[in-house]
Amino acid sequence: MPSDYDHLARWYDRLGNLVFAGSIRKAQAFGLDNMTSDSRVLIVGGGTGYVLDAIARLNLSGLNIDYVESSQGMLQLAEMRSISNQDVRFINESWPSTKANDCYDVIITQFFLDSFDGNEFHLMFSSLDVRLKEGGLWIVADFQLSKDLRVLWQLPMLRLMYLFFKITVGIQASRLEDIAEHFASTYKELICNSNYYGTFIFSSTYRKMKK
Ligand SMILES: C[S@@+](CC[C@H](N)C(=O)[O-])C[C@H]1O[C@@H](n2cnc3c(N)ncnc32)[C@H](O)[C@@H]1O
Repeated sequence: MPSDYDHLARWYDRLGNLVFAGSIRKAQAFGLDNMTSDSRVLIVGGGTGYVLDAIARLNLSGLNIDYVESSQGMLQLAEMRSISNQDVRFINESWPSTKANDCYDVIITQFFLDSFDGNEFHLMFSSLDVRLKEGGLWIVADFQLSKDLRVLWQLPMLRLMYLFFKITVGIQASRLEDIAEHFASTYKELICNSNYYGTFIFSSTYRKMKK
């Protein structure tokens, strides 16, 4: 059963800001300036759409954006953003069962891949990967666990977050995949990277290389 963020939608951003004190926002904005005008862009699980505001501030022309979000509550909030300078197609469907089946110059997933583990994660990753053109960019922000003993608080905090999202929205995953390692092992070149909230949050831009 897919997760259901509808009843959390109005609180989601406030909760993120409260717990992570602006780090989520910074991670969501980082790397977007690698995009160029006239790109075909796919955003999956974009939530309330802050990323659309951040993209609008770049003043790029000719962007064509497919915004796929499974929660109607989240999508409605995203649609209310003032993004008139962009061509956005809002799609209230669950990826990968969606009508958005083009190939894209840019894919954006932010705090989305952490909702999947094991086989589900691999299926989700490859269903997106096949939609990214060679040479295209994947802009990703998410959580990561450090092996540094000084940040041992990360694991209990992560477990608490998974418990919270299991109870409130019914996510199936219970552990965090090594997302950065997965990108590295699937032939993607790291263009830029930044860490936030200690190193608990990362934001990276990868280029899909020729196999
Ligand atoms: C943790 S929230 C992250 C929202 C936003 N990207 C952010 O950074 O704040 C995950 C979002 O992904 C959406 N989602 C979960 N599974 C999905 C799927 N299979 N297809 C599309 N959206 C999905 C949820 O409804 C939710 O809005």
